[in-house]
Amino acid sequence: MTVSVIIGSQFGDEGKGKVTDFYAAEADMIVRFNGGNNAGHTIVVEGVTYKLHLMPSGAIQPNKHVVIGNGVVVDPGVLLGEMEELARAGHPITRLSVSDRAHLILSYHKLQDGIEEGLKGRLKAGTTMRGIGPTYQDKAARWGVRAGDLLDKDELRRKLDIVLPIKERVIRGLGGPEVEFDPSAVYEECMDHADRLGPYVEDTTVLINEAIEQGTSVLFEGAQGVLLDIDHGVYPFGTSSNVVTGAACTGAGVAPQVFDEVIGIVKAYLSRVGTGPVPTELEDGAGTHLQTVGKEFGATTGRPRRCGWLDLAMVRYSHMLCGFTGIALTKVDVLSGLPTVKVCTEYKARGRTLRVPPADMSIFAECEPQYIELDGWEDPGTDAWRRAAREGLGALPPNWRSYVEFVQEELGVPVAFVGVGPGRSETLDLR
Ligand code: IMP
Repeated sequence: MTVSVIIGSQFGDEGKGKVTDFYAAEADMIVRFNGGNNAGHTIVVEGVTYKLHLMPSGAIQPNKHVVIGNGVVVDPGVLLGEMEELARAGHPITRLSVSDRAHLILSYHKLQDGIEEGLKGRLKAGTTMRGIGPTYQDKAARWGVRAGDLLDKDELRRKLDIVLPIKERVIRGLGGPEVEFDPSAVYEECMDHADRLGPYVEDTTVLINEAIEQGTSVLFEGAQGVLLDIDHGVYPFGTSSNVVTGAACTGAGVAPQVFDEVIGIVKAYLSRVGTGPVPTELEDGAGTHLQTVGKEFGATTGRPRRCGWLDLAMVRYSHMLCGFTGIALTKVDVLSGLPTVKVCTEYKARGRTLRVPPADMSIFAECEPQYIELDGWEDPGTDAWRRAAREGLGALPPNWRSYVEFVQEELGVPVAFVGVGPGRSETLDLR
């Protein structure tokens, strides 16, 4: 039995979907613990592409117990919609549990997200407009609606009688008189959720802890990436929840000792949707190469992602916060065909050398990446990648191997997994 956590080490979109799907094969229970449907995981199985936002990526594996932990903000329509979609695609979820402590994203949160983003000027994070931030705000304000509230309709109605007038005032105050807000529509929406989502709602904290005690293999699937963490990331340009390993403890209700391994997902280059500084961002041909070959368009918003060289100062920081026991290096194949490949190992800013990103975004914006330049390699073709996936690191071009070894040595963490293509079979398992 193994209890694992998977964390994105950069700005999200590191290829977690594929890695998680791979690790999920060995787990019985898959738990999401942070964020909501701002996440976007792409999984390719036998040539078919699946895009999931709220369901964990591991859900595509057969017979998994899928758990949505208390730290997740849940849009009920999206959750049920993805469940139906998976069933239609021949991947039915056999068991789903939603934490009674998880907060619900309701229609007014999405409205509020758009209004607030419009008011923020240069503090705009470029949110996904899914209502994630406003739902976490309500959680902290302690007037949020939780999944557990759906289990008692009378009590839910009494709660909404207090909450809806508050939200009406907040939204009107933010957006002015032209904003339409209909509390009776929200009542109806909640009653509908109570019927449809209610049967899946339970105390998942007890459920997960009992499962671990009984020897169940559990995979905790993180969403987003460490640099988007509300405390440790690029504030105010990140997301509104914690993303680091500790978030699996608070967002699922487990003690830190339960984890046997912490896998950090590192994409072989950098991508970012949204605003804020990205020191290694490329605006030349190499950047276009990464964006087009890597198909770097947001799975949730369809926005083109900003691309840059791998930034190991960032990943070093993520490792410091998360304690990775293994690295899953993804999309290395995308670098093929570039004459040279650069890797940032530290920054220089205001006469100082920085080994990790600073908290102050005005300093971060001035950080000059310090690069190591490695020789590139030609694309050996899909068959060669597939052969290497079967035969291991030795079967790969030497310059490619040097790249993987360089990353491993710089971080001092073994590379456990290498992704060389989008499919399940295009994976080197080095464990
Ligand atoms: P929000 O989480 O929708 O509020 O968006 C806040 C910031 O985090 C924006 O810059 C988003 O683009 C970014 N973001 C949120 N979730 C993800 C993700 O799963 N992958 C990549 N970026 C994300």
